[in-house]
Amino acid sequence: MVEEARGTEEIDRRVAALLDRMSLEEKIGQMSLVNAGESYIHDDLAEGLRAGRVGGVLNEVDVGTVNELQRIAVEESRLGIPLLIGRDVIHGFKTVMPIPLGQAATWNPDLVMQAARVAAYEAASHGVNWTFAPMIDVCRDPRWGRIAECFGEDPHLASVLGVAMLRGFQGPDLGRPDAIAACAKHFAGYGAVESGRDYAAANVPENELRNVHLRPFRAAVDAGVATIMTSFSEVDGVPATANERLVRRILKDEWAFGGFVVSDWDSVRQLRIHGLTADDRESCREAVTAGVDMEMHGDAYTVHLPALVRGDELDEELIDAAVRRILRLKFRLGLFERPYTDPAAFLPCASEASLATARQAALQSVVLLRNEHRVLPMSPEALRSLAVIGPLADAGDEQLGTWVFDGDPGLSVTPLQAIRDLAAGRFDVQYLRAMETSRSRDTRAFDEAATLAGQCDATVLFLGEEAILSGEAHCRADINLPGAQAELVARVREAGKPVIAVILAGRPLTLANIVDKADAILYAWHPGTMGGPAIADLLFGIESPSGKLPVSFPRMVGQIPIYYSHKNTGKPPTPDSVVHIDNIDPKARQLSLGMTSFHFDAGYTPLFAFGHGLSYTSFEYSSIRVSRDQIRLGESFHVHADLRNTGAIGAEEVVQLYVRDLVGNVTRPVRELKGFRRVRLEPGQQVVVDFELHTDDLAFHGRDMRLVVEPGEFQVWIGGSSEAGLRAEFRVVPPA
Ligand code: NOJ
Repeated sequence: MVEEARGTEEIDRRVAALLDRMSLEEKIGQMSLVNAGESYIHDDLAEGLRAGRVGGVLNEVDVGTVNELQRIAVEESRLGIPLLIGRDVIHGFKTVMPIPLGQAATWNPDLVMQAARVAAYEAASHGVNWTFAPMIDVCRDPRWGRIAECFGEDPHLASVLGVAMLRGFQGPDLGRPDAIAACAKHFAGYGAVESGRDYAAANVPENELRNVHLRPFRAAVDAGVATIMTSFSEVDGVPATANERLVRRILKDEWAFGGFVVSDWDSVRQLRIHGLTADDRESCREAVTAGVDMEMHGDAYTVHLPALVRGDELDEELIDAAVRRILRLKFRLGLFERPYTDPAAFLPCASEASLATARQAALQSVVLLRNEHRVLPMSPEALRSLAVIGPLADAGDEQLGTWVFDGDPGLSVTPLQAIRDLAAGRFDVQYLRAMETSRSRDTRAFDEAATLAGQCDATVLFLGEEAILSGEAHCRADINLPGAQAELVARVREAGKPVIAVILAGRPLTLANIVDKADAILYAWHPGTMGGPAIADLLFGIESPSGKLPVSFPRMVGQIPIYYSHKNTGKPPTPDSVVHIDNIDPKARQLSLGMTSFHFDAGYTPLFAFGHGLSYTSFEYSSIRVSRDQIRLGESFHVHADLRNTGAIGAEEVVQLYVRDLVGNVTRPVRELKGFRRVRLEPGQQVVVDFELHTDDLAFHGRDMRLVVEPGEFQVWIGGSSEAGLRAEFRVVPPA
């Protein structure tokens, strides 16, 4: 700690000394992040580097070019300040991990951290020293294409996994050559864009913003995230990039965030397009006043800031404060001592160890949604023939998912390849793509698919969405399986043999129209480079599925947003208060149908709940207890339950703990995740699963927006999903 403090003081001294020597233009240069790309240095960029007009470059990953960029900055500019080299390393670099939503389904912070470590190492070997991840937007709308990039619907899960990922990137010490600075994004409320349409307005009241959307950011700040990116969208009428309340007051003043804030791509100039400002000059003033320290791609800062400062429209101290933050990171990264990257000092990318991490992450990310008559796992010995059908069985590039700038599809092992390897002559594998893409409406191959399904012992259908259907700006209003896939399922079903659907997708899809037609459903997200072997291991029981949903699966789009930690309402539904539209009595009158909060055509539950995920074994929870009935404010306490593996195989289970605060000065959700743990149990094994909580874990932002823990009654559940039924109670009382 003392060491670190000394380090910080030393850095602050060096920053101050450097700042003293900088001209206004050189300071503003540090606030500019320029797009490069293409392994080529344009004359303009070289000129800008020499003149000190560039603080960082993004999208250059050719290490020779990166070193040359650094050389020009260090050797040919007056002050020799090295560059930040930024890149979207969202879920892997060359070795592609599952999409972040898939990583969230592992509920395994150690694994998420390990995956980010691999990504950081590979990216750093190419000269990258800054990534624009983790994305910790809380999202409750699967129409939004960017749900693929986040950790799902829950603030606690997103906080824990976001911190794990940023620690993986930044490592134990940012000064290590294989560490890269992380960037938590997008600040804030971006996950709540209207109707799941990217870039749309997010209208989130401050209490909800603080209790839900800001929580992962607070956790990231407390964990030492180096940078934060503002979002494209507006919150309550003010675009995030000009939102002084969010960026300066909450993030920098209230939370004491010590890193720097970068805009999203050209989002400073977009303030004019939003209709917030009349021109770029005004946009520039708004963004700097709000506290946005660096402009990503866009020249508003370099063009307008000098005149704004010289014309006394902006205080130069605002510029100095921004530059201090940026330079501090450059010192912390050790760039002044070590601006160049020696690729020979690194092991090659996609090493055996990296691929093993990718395989483990894919394995733990897959969620077994349904398994009727225990059709899974299949036995390679008992099977004679297997039909493998569908557009995503052998699509090495599609299984990588969105945001794969540097990933190498050539490294992908597809499910088809892995199943063939695993069969190794023991059973026959018959493959039919049946559809060119997931979106295809051409059903001409469906007769052949049905015949093949009839001839084989079982069929595995590889369905879902190609990578292009999720990610930034790639949103959908209809989130059924696209194209004619539902019809393909129905045709294969007619053959009367077991049907297993493996779904690869960047979001939760609405599966109500196929769910009863598949005996088993494995939800594999976009599982990355090693998705194939992971899926094959699960299909054949070499491993048991252990992923759990990080997001609720709606029955139909009209239920969105549907999430487990909703409010109770004054008229909560119960199974007997729900009337289905088909059962409405013709004589019914307006007041006779229950008058509770549900949809006539969808009820009030999701198709699959948050936290849900089956296993090949069965787990039994019992005897939940709280260490004391009464807990004093400021104290820790324990909640535990017995967990037993009652099945025949060893497997991992993600144990989840939920809490309800029964009365609050603002209403509290019906359940909130407060803890989770992955445990492995052998057949017959029983363990006590213990969670330590502190009353601070029960805090929420009240009516006055302050964080508070209110004495009162609480309920607590431990179980295998958000629908866990095993409950205990406790009471929080004022301090002695
Ligand atoms: C825009 C995206 O919103 C952001 O997440 C990304 O990091 C930047 N572009 C840079 O590519």
